[in-house]
Amino acid sequence: MPARIVISADGKKAFESWRLAFASVAPQVSVCSWYDPAYTAGEDDYALVWSPRPDHMERLACMKGIVCTGAGVDHLLAHADFPRHVPLVRMGGEQTARLMADYVLWAVIGLLRDARTWAMQQQQGLWRNNVCSRTSNTTRVGIMGLGHLGAYVAQALAHVGFCVSGWKRTPAELDGVTVWSGVEALPDFLGELDVLVNLLPATPATDGLIDHVLLSHLPKGAGFVNVGRGRHVVQSDLLRALDDGTLCGAVLDVVTPEPLPDDSALWHHPRLTITPHVASEASREVQARYVADVVASLERGEKPALLCDVTRGY
Ligand code: GLV
Repeated sequence: MPARIVISADGKKAFESWRLAFASVAPQVSVCSWYDPAYTAGEDDYALVWSPRPDHMERLACMKGIVCTGAGVDHLLAHADFPRHVPLVRMGGEQTARLMADYVLWAVIGLLRDARTWAMQQQQGLWRNNVCSRTSNTTRVGIMGLGHLGAYVAQALAHVGFCVSGWKRTPAELDGVTVWSGVEALPDFLGELDVLVNLLPATPATDGLIDHVLLSHLPKGAGFVNVGRGRHVVQSDLLRALDDGTLCGAVLDVVTPEPLPDDSALWHHPRLTITPHVASEASREVQARYVADVVASLERGEKPALLCDVTRGY
C-alpha cells in the first residue's frame, strides 16, 4: 500500500485547503481527513498534526510517522500519552526559516531604531524627532538556540551586517557567528549583547530560563525578542526589566497563555510590541511539499533532518 497522510492539522475545516495544496505540489500523495467518518486505519498511514486533542492519541499511536506543522513540538510531548514510539518530525524547510529570519530582522531593526516610539507618537499625532544613529554593523545580536531555525536566523542577521553571536547547550561552529555553549557561558554571552533573541526549544530545562537573573546579565538597555515559547520567560521579571530600564524594549511573538488574555498587563506596556504568534508559518503548498518529502524519506528508511529526539524534547 502506498503511504497515506491523514490530516488533522488546523481542524476539520482546514482539510480542503490541505487537500488542494497536496494536489498541487505532490499529486502522487494520497491524503485523507482525520475527521472523515469513513476513515479506516491503514498500516502505511502518517499523521499531519498541529495540536491534536487528547482523544486523538490512541489513533496517533497506530501511525507509521507523525509530522507536526510546528517547528516546536513541546505541546505534543506535553501529553502524557503522546505515542513516543512513533517517529515525530518537526516542520522545517527554507520558507519556514526565511520567514523567521525576516521577522527577527524586523524586530531587531525596530528595537535598534526605537520604532515603538514612532508608533506611539503617530497615535498621538506627535511629530517629534527621536533620531537614532546606531547602525546594524555596530549592533550585537545574540541568538539563544542554534537549531535549524536559530542557526539560519543567526546567519541571515550576520549577512545583513549585524555582529552575531549564539548560545546553545552543546559546542558548535557556525560560519560568521561566535558560538557560546553551556550554562556557565551564559553570563559572558549575554554581557556582550545589544539585543537578545530567544529561539530555544521548549523543554523542562528551558522553562522560565529567561528570568530576572538572566536578564540582569545583559548590558543595561538591551532589547529582547521572543520567538521561542512564552513559557521560556518569567513574565513578571520581563515587565520589571522593562520598567527599570534593564531592557529598552521587547518584541514578543509568543506569550503564555495564547491568546493573550484581555486583562494581561503585557498588552498595554509602552515598551512592548506584541504579535499574535505569526513569526513563521510557511504557505500550505510549501508545507505540503515538505511533508511529502519527509514521508518519502521515512518510507525509504531514512532519518529526516528534523526527526525529534523525544527524550531530549525537540
Ligand atoms: C510555532 O510556534 C511553531 O512551533 O512552529
